[in-house]
Amino acid sequence: MSKHDLLIIGAGLAGLRAAVEGVRQGLNVAVITKVHPVRSHSNAAQGGINAALTDRGDDWRDHALATIKGSDYLADQDAVEVMCREAGEAIIELENMGVIFSRDDDGKLGTRAFGGQKKARTYFVGAITGSALLHVLYEQSVKYDLHIYEEWFVTKLIKQDGKIAGAIAFDIKTGQMELITAKAVVLATGGAGRVFEPSTNALICTGDGLSLAMQVGAPLMDTEMIQYHPTTLAGNGILLSEAARGYGAYLINSEGDRFMEKYAPDYMELASRDVVSRAEQTEIDEGRGVDGCVYLDLRHLGKKFIEERLGYLQEVALEFRGIDLSESPIPIKPGMHYIMGGIKTDLNGATNIPGLYAAGECANVSVHGANRLGANSLLDTIVFGRRAAVNSVEYIKSFSSLEVDERELSKEKSRIQNILDRPRGMRSAELRNKMGATMTKGIGVWRDKDSIIEAMAKMKDLRGQLPNVYIENKGKVFNTDLVSYLELEFMVDVAESICHGADKRLESRGAHFRTDMKSRNDADWLKHTLVQFADEELNTTTSDVTITDWQPTERVY
Ligand code: FUM
Repeated sequence: MSKHDLLIIGAGLAGLRAAVEGVRQGLNVAVITKVHPVRSHSNAAQGGINAALTDRGDDWRDHALATIKGSDYLADQDAVEVMCREAGEAIIELENMGVIFSRDDDGKLGTRAFGGQKKARTYFVGAITGSALLHVLYEQSVKYDLHIYEEWFVTKLIKQDGKIAGAIAFDIKTGQMELITAKAVVLATGGAGRVFEPSTNALICTGDGLSLAMQVGAPLMDTEMIQYHPTTLAGNGILLSEAARGYGAYLINSEGDRFMEKYAPDYMELASRDVVSRAEQTEIDEGRGVDGCVYLDLRHLGKKFIEERLGYLQEVALEFRGIDLSESPIPIKPGMHYIMGGIKTDLNGATNIPGLYAAGECANVSVHGANRLGANSLLDTIVFGRRAAVNSVEYIKSFSSLEVDERELSKEKSRIQNILDRPRGMRSAELRNKMGATMTKGIGVWRDKDSIIEAMAKMKDLRGQLPNVYIENKGKVFNTDLVSYLELEFMVDVAESICHGADKRLESRGAHFRTDMKSRNDADWLKHTLVQFADEELNTTTSDVTITDWQPTERVY
């Protein structure tokens, strides 16, 4: 049995930032991750990281207001204040750690414009911001000689006397299963995009942390808030960064019109993502699209600029569509990109379960509300990853020792063996595909009572079919068949929770647009939804939104 003070599950930006802080605070820290750290999904973030730097004449309050308006007033304003106040320091600290941010012509840190904001306050590293940050944080973890369980898969959290006491996991490389005790655990497992198909998310984004938290009694908050990114590539759903629109790319329909003029005359292509995605979908639905898409047009930016500033987009366009962005517009459509909902935490990442913390996309500290602004997610990971580790210190130090009942390990070994022993049945991929298609249809850019109820019924049915899934590979070494099935179990919890959140919220707000209830209803629904297991059934309740300085008003772009 391995013992640590703090166990961090997930090695993306939130996980590694928490880990580095934990070590700096003098804790015995370990990180456990199902992939090598630099293969975490944070690696895929292209656009940048927002901050209002005072010496650039910017003000954190403007950033906060843009974030709150972007959230359609569902974000908790005390959490937004924390994130926006701490953003400047976070950027400078990252730079000091070694992130080589892109520069302006005068050699200072460069910024570009992103959606939902009038001020250009997105700091970036070409179109590989997430990758650059992740590699630097990984370097820090090497410097601190961090203990990393690399390519290990967590199957269960251990809760003892009402408190978190560690996790059970197996080494994917050998199949060896272990009980890893920890006085506190930070869940930093990222999102759950693969509950939908297609998605911009990596195949590893299967909602593991959300389900693990639910299994020990933590609620998920605002699960109905699913972000559809406005520019995903036709056919395969690859993300084409908002940075293109930040530099002035247009959205045009089949008639060549810049249609955003009708929907968001002030912000145009840089309105918030939910607004732009709905505008595109309206154009497509009303017959002004082509093959279910509209176009992103960069031609006027010129080849030199595109290749210098948006080289990655040019590569994707050429590679997958044979399109040179300086010569032709590229077909795009809204695609599932991010979950605003997640494990409910306080401002310091603490959940309702003593010893359990969460940070990053799997968490919901409530800075994104009903719609996240582009480039606020990297900021969320860095600010709240650090805070979770800092906050765990006092709790961890309140323990002298931690004894965990080792029978937990043999029970979990038997559960996994029983899954492997199933004699025959269906393959997990079949259910995964069904899930993805059903969720995209039912909980899409548009949704209504019927679509939500249908998706919910299908997810319940899918849960009932889990015991029929057969693992063909009975081996111990790299049993990806088993991993894929266990991920499917996690995904079912998340998918059902999303449907329950969507069914509960009887209004339209941000990314949750119900065609049967088209207006925002602050009188009844300035509230969070909370989904939680109660006696093995999902139960949905609500809680109040924290308003500080910014009263909800009509949201116009
Ligand atoms: O469009 C993008 O580059 C995505 C950024 C984000 O989701 O924050």
